[in-house]
Amino acid sequence: MTYVVTDNCIMCKFTDCVEVCPVDCFYEGENTLVIHPDECIDCGVCEPECPADAIRPDTEPDMEKWVEFNRTYSEKWPVITQKKDPMPNATEMDGKEGKLEEFFSEKPGDGD
Ligand code: SF4
Ligand code: F3S
Repeated sequence: MTYVVTDNCIMCKFTDCVEVCPVDCFYEGENTLVIHPDECIDCGVCEPECPADAIRPDTEPDMEKWVEFNRTYSEKWPVITQKKDPMPNATEMDGKEGKLEEFFSEKPGDGD
């Protein structure tokens, strides 16, 4: 199994998660993060760190789409291991519906 980042990270990107990952398997897009499913060791310590509750185990229902999403972009984006400032309107964007369709950017982030 693996943990994955889901849509509520988009436009929030709080980055508390990256600080606790023992294997540095988070990758940074312009406005969200992903986890590399083959590098994640399923320790689970990142899940409670996310203020937006965006990290999920793939054992939950309907997670296949998110595993593929995380895999696809983790192979395109740079690794991120250090916390940085969240997106400018992160608090307002937390919980907003339709983020994937309306806001997701395929562009890479800056990484570390
Ligand atoms: Fe990293 Fe553990 Fe989270 Fe996987 S579950 S991304 S290994 S902190
Ligand atoms: Fe995103 Fe939550 Fe990490 S908002 S950057 S998954 S702490």
